[in-house]
Amino acid sequence: MDEHKTVIILGGTGFVGRAVTEKYLKNKWRVVIPTRSRNLAEAKNKLLSHGFDENSLENFLSANLLLFALDVDLSEKKWSEPDNWSRLLREINIPIFSILRVINFVGETSKSAEEILKSNINTLVSIFTLVRYIKSQNKSTIFVNMGSVVEKRSNTNLSPYEYAKKVAYQEIKKSNLCDFHFIAEYIKGRGEQKMKSVAPILWQKLKFSHRWFFGFKVSVIDVDDLAEVIYHLIEETKIKQQRFKPIEVYVTNGELTFGEIVKNLLPESNRSIPKQIFPNWLAFLFLYFYSLIIPQIKPNDQFIRRLANFAERSIKKENKTDGFKTAEEIKKMALDSKKYEILEKEPSLIISDKQSPVIYVLIEKNEIELKLIVQKALL
Ligand SMILES: NC(=O)c1ccc[n+]([C@@H]2O[C@H](COP(=O)([O-])OP(=O)(O)OC[C@H]3O[C@@H](n4cnc5c(N)ncnc54)[C@H](OP(=O)(O)O)[C@@H]3O)[C@@H](O)[C@H]2O)c1
Repeated sequence: MDEHKTVIILGGTGFVGRAVTEKYLKNKWRVVIPTRSRNLAEAKNKLLSHGFDENSLENFLSANLLLFALDVDLSEKKWSEPDNWSRLLREINIPIFSILRVINFVGETSKSAEEILKSNINTLVSIFTLVRYIKSQNKSTIFVNMGSVVEKRSNTNLSPYEYAKKVAYQEIKKSNLCDFHFIAEYIKGRGEQKMKSVAPILWQKLKFSHRWFFGFKVSVIDVDDLAEVIYHLIEETKIKQQRFKPIEVYVTNGELTFGEIVKNLLPESNRSIPKQIFPNWLAFLFLYFYSLIIPQIKPNDQFIRRLANFAERSIKKENKTDGFKTAEEIKKMALDSKKYEILEKEPSLIISDKQSPVIYVLIEKNEIELKLIVQKALL
């Protein structure tokens, strides 16, 4: 096989993985995606379901620029053996020195608690084995990981997803292998399946309490903008890695009220918000007890736990989550030249913290554009 620059994208068949896979392929990289899929058709269908164009998919496959490593379940013990990775790469004919990037998007966000823990935590041993093996052969290989804002939550009553991401983040830091750790709050846009399918259920379940449950703001990033940022920072800006410490990169397009996100994921005929029929103090009490009692009664129900989370955030009236900066804050920070360095002003504002390895990226959009990002999931 020729010596194309190669990137291994773990979780490359998923919602976020599709966008980054496409970005690297369009820039003439060879992409290898390890997947649990048993055959090519299954793997292809996952990418197509997330909006990959069918013609280009066939072209990339026949040019051997996109390769699937089938039947790779990273939670299986066999992948914690470097020999098995070495064998796999030989079988698919990828020279190890051509692998310059490993990017990790593995991790269920909305299945059962057991699946969430397994895919976010149990897979890490295998992922670290692969990265360690590749870095041992090629020191300049960069390892990029996708984190989440929830990993910074300090509550004691964490949902399975929050708990899994928190543990994963600690493991990532401990491994000393990660070069870039990207953090986004809500990723939306083309190919999104999960929130699209869950939005009507949320709306239905919360018939008379939408406003209370969903009245807080969250940061939104379009999935293809996120892919652009990842590619730009790593391949074009060429930000230098730190030794043994990940550079944390927070990315946002701006903020939208969570209720607006859910609303914009519904068919137009279904978008009316019922009138608030209880006084505010009663709503507050309802949310307070909901957030307190529900996690005790149904500790393993991911959906209910997330509702309890929304309830908790609504009473706190928090407009931002831990660690995350709003668009306004990022613009203000850019003026503080003692603490922050502006790396780029256009097309996105990129600033870095002078004291610690943290970068903030803002591709600012107005409210109408943010709503369109959400609606792209419906196309
Ligand atoms: N979506 C968001 O709004 C959001 C926000 C912040 C952070 N994130 C983070 O971004 C990452 C990707 O999220 P996503 O929405 O793209 O999820 P997704 O669509 O569910 O994709 C997850 C990917 O993980 C792979 N995977 C899961 N378990 C695996 C296993 N045991 N072995 C091998 N591969 C496995 C799947 O590959 P196969 O099915 O092909 O095996 C799939 O491609 C996650 O870490 C998530 O926490 C997402």
